[in-house]
Amino acid sequence: MISVLFVCLGNICRSPLAEAIFEHKIKVLGLSSHFKSDSAGTSDYHIGELPDDRTIRCAQNNGLKISHRGRQVNRTDFREYDYILAMDESNLNSLNQMKKRFNFPNKEIYLMRDFVEGHEGLPVPDPYYGGEKEFEDIFQILDQSIDGFLEKVKETHQLYA
Ligand code: 4NP
Repeated sequence: MISVLFVCLGNICRSPLAEAIFEHKIKVLGLSSHFKSDSAGTSDYHIGELPDDRTIRCAQNNGLKISHRGRQVNRTDFREYDYILAMDESNLNSLNQMKKRFNFPNKEIYLMRDFVEGHEGLPVPDPYYGGEKEFEDIFQILDQSIDGFLEKVKETHQLYA
């Protein structure tokens, strides 16, 4: 089982959307049994909350249902998840601090866009202060990033769908 954790700041916009897109894609590919995925936030701002209304609407507009309750990244996540994918540099810095604090010095954490050639190091921009357009933009970025991630992981783990 390959485990994937999507991480943003609040866990109500980008990362639950990433999780919904990822789950949909592996289902279509017939690879669901190979993966476990979840999402979490670096902050404690929205623990227990449903995704932002705009996230839910964006998912629906793209044919996806979304159901997640906000939670904060914790120590266990560093042990349980093979791949921890951060949305931006700020999330990455927070995760790298946690990894020191939780004593997982060798855990590698990636940026979501690192798997798309030419987009390495770029952020999935925070849409919280944006509108519908910003949400649609991040949907497209996440969709492309997850395709890139799945290509890489299928090759690394020799999964042939
Ligand atoms: P997310 O977006 O990190 O993609 O879930 C945000 C959600 C909430 C806040 C910031 C970003 N906030 O400051 O409450």
